[in-house]
Amino acid sequence: MKTIEDFLKSRNAGIPITMVTCYDYWSAVIINETDVDALLVGDSAAMVMHGYDTTVNAEMDMMMYHIAAVRRGIKDKLIIADFPFLAHRKGINYAMECVDKFVKAGAHAVKIEGAGTTTNIIKHIVDSGVPVMGHIGLTPQSIHKYGGYKIQGKNLDAKEKLIEDAKSLEQAGSFSIVLELLQAEVAKKITEQISIPTIGIGAGKYTSGQILVLQDLLGLTKAFNPKFLRKYLDGFNLIKAAINKYNNDVKNRNFPNSEESY
Ligand code: KIV
Repeated sequence: MKTIEDFLKSRNAGIPITMVTCYDYWSAVIINETDVDALLVGDSAAMVMHGYDTTVNAEMDMMMYHIAAVRRGIKDKLIIADFPFLAHRKGINYAMECVDKFVKAGAHAVKIEGAGTTTNIIKHIVDSGVPVMGHIGLTPQSIHKYGGYKIQGKNLDAKEKLIEDAKSLEQAGSFSIVLELLQAEVAKKITEQISIPTIGIGAGKYTSGQILVLQDLLGLTKAFNPKFLRKYLDGFNLIKAAINKYNNDVKNRNFPNSEESY
């Protein structure tokens, strides 16, 4: 299993780190047999698996259910669990209860969005022995602050703020940082200014690694077509065709046949 130390080794050796999201048992079983380095049980589960418009509807119970299912399918990969909306802003005791539950459910590390005063809780979690991944740039839990999924860090002040945030997350002990929706040059600058790995999504090629939402890379999220996304499968249409084929076979009495009958 790749550990957080391996993340750093890969970063230092210039070997890109690969991550995908995972929310359920059957995709965990498949991912477990792939070469990707680690997976994130993201709060994007609220959108991808539950059909909400944003990630703010992810709750602890929802995350726990997904973490436990993923854990049952993953034998030897680093599992990072996402703190849901506001869970790290409800006081240290509540945050630590969340960490406790996540780790006991099978997570090896947690991810928390934001910097600023959030670095206090990150430091406490790290000091308690649990690795934390940071997340800056477009942080989807703050979507109403941004007014949409927009590229972040476009002006000089915003760029400098992102670099400061990345440094403060490193200072707090984060083992890596997700950079979401940034110009490639901004993500490059951040990556150069810190000594922990950066994992990009919509942040260009100069980060230490990449993460994509599994259903996006498999082409299952038909209506989601941002510029940064490469779809590696036409999953939506392939699955639709397979289900229709099954339907037709049943209607035409082609399924089940004699070999498929007892
Ligand atoms: O929840 C999620 O899927 C994420 C990734 C986009 C990094 O936070």
